[in-house]
Amino acid sequence: MVKKHERRSHLKPEQKLEGGVFDVQTLVALRKLMKTGFIDKLDGPIATGKEADVFLARLKDEPRVVKIFRIETTSFKNILPYIQGDPRFRIRRKRHEIVFEWAKKEFRNLERAHYAGLKVPKPYKVMRNILIMSLIGTDSTPAPQLNTIPTGEIKNPKKLAKDLLEFLKQLHKKAGLVHADFSEFNILMKSAGEPYVVDFAQAVLTDSRNAKDFLGRDVENYIRYFAKYKLDFDKEKVLKEIIGENH
Ligand SMILES: Nc1ncnc2c1ncn2[C@@H]1O[C@H](COP(=O)(O)OP(=O)(O)OP(=O)(O)O)[C@@H](O)[C@H]1O
Ligand SMILES: [Mg+2]
Repeated sequence: MVKKHERRSHLKPEQKLEGGVFDVQTLVALRKLMKTGFIDKLDGPIATGKEADVFLARLKDEPRVVKIFRIETTSFKNILPYIQGDPRFRIRRKRHEIVFEWAKKEFRNLERAHYAGLKVPKPYKVMRNILIMSLIGTDSTPAPQLNTIPTGEIKNPKKLAKDLLEFLKQLHKKAGLVHADFSEFNILMKSAGEPYVVDFAQAVLTDSRNAKDFLGRDVENYIRYFAKYKLDFDKEKVLKEIIGENH
């Protein structure tokens, strides 16, 4: 029989309840995910945000990523427009239930995008407010966000722009999704010419109520980013390229 304190040993001290980082239920869920073979070990944080904390984890030799959505700071008002009109999700009343739906939404969206063959993390499991996915990176090092890469280091911005436009197009066409938070902050450069896109909680089905507005905003971010490289894109033309003639 394993004693309680021994079972906790895979969590670093600062991640234990005593450190105040996770609530009890999140810790219980993490333990369950360890027992059921989704991760063996939780390592240090990759990123901490207002709505989620992202950690490096491991299953045997395989690096994995654990995204833990914060129950207390997630704003219902902010996420409502991304859930309204999506038949896959119910609007809940309790804060924690809304956050669980939000985590499930990211999981389902990643599934759609991953199985459509797009460069996104492979999702393995969602439980409560915890999402487990593959690491975008090399060995155990997460790939850098595009916004952290100095413009001078992007050797072929035209090719990057072409790849990202193709990403948006395939996401629309094959996965039936609009990312809705597409920007250099959610693009990870696995290698010089290999962008991956993360952060899919807010992504919506292409036929949902606000999809067109969100796509317009994604395209504006795309155009704004590439203006730094003196690449000039026309919004209407880019939209047409992504969704075809009928928009
Ligand atoms: N699968 C992954 N592999 C490597 N790094 C990742 C992965 N997922 C997330 N990250 C890193 O963690 C950061 C935060 O993740 P993400 O963008 O999903 O959450 P967030 O911006 O906090 O989300 P939200 O906007 O919902 O609060 C990313 O910008 C990226 O640097
Ligand atoms: Mg993000």
